[in-house]
Amino acid sequence: MNYYTYFSKQARKPSGLFGRFFMKKLFEKGNMELNSHVYETLAFGKNDNILEIGFGPGLFMKKIADSLTDGFIEGVDFSETMVNIAKKRNRSHIKTGKVKIQSGDFNNVSYAANSFERVFTVNTIYFWQNPSETASKIFEILKPGGKVVVGYHSKEDMENSPLNKDVFKYYATEDVEELFTNANFKDVKTITKKIADKSCYCCIATK
Ligand SMILES: C[S@@+](CC[C@H](N)C(=O)[O-])C[C@H]1O[C@@H](n2cnc3c(N)ncnc32)[C@H](O)[C@@H]1O
Repeated sequence: MNYYTYFSKQARKPSGLFGRFFMKKLFEKGNMELNSHVYETLAFGKNDNILEIGFGPGLFMKKIADSLTDGFIEGVDFSETMVNIAKKRNRSHIKTGKVKIQSGDFNNVSYAANSFERVFTVNTIYFWQNPSETASKIFEILKPGGKVVVGYHSKEDMENSPLNKDVFKYYATEDVEELFTNANFKDVKTITKKIADKSCYCCIATK
């Protein structure tokens, strides 16, 4: 396996020492701008129930939990390495029930319908095995009027990257909008933020 294939697989599902040290640092620093853009776009309320899919090191779960009063944030991630890091980082909020962390594949975890005011995910859409199934599941678990926010870098920006295209699937902004429109969401739009040489995209849509 060449380095870029190994790296791409680690980005999808970090593991071992490489995941625990190298990928953790990379996610925390390299993904900061996109996560901040998603955080602003979420515009959540202090009493909201929120779900993050693929929280990685759990930095933004903590930031969100810090500003919730009666709400909670739940996260699901299928990397044991990231689950352990996020649990450690969020341990005080886990004790009070403000943060709940689940280890598993989002597609295999069951949630009650109409559970969340917000569902968000950052840098995971590239790895979705069955995008329309995932979008429909998000629709089902959101409360009516609830919003999904998906943060990603687009096809145009990533096309020249050396990442393995069997692991990473790139989307144009129209592809992501179509995905959520077809899953019955309304007011589907993309909010773009240009930071230095990077474009950060948020697709936001309402149930
Ligand atoms: C590229 S990292 C992004 C982490 C963080 N969201 C960020 O932007 O820094 C992708 C994360 O999503 C998790 N992940 C990918 N697909 C998943 C799935 N189907 N279910 C649960 N977790 C998933 C991975 O384990 C990894 O921690």
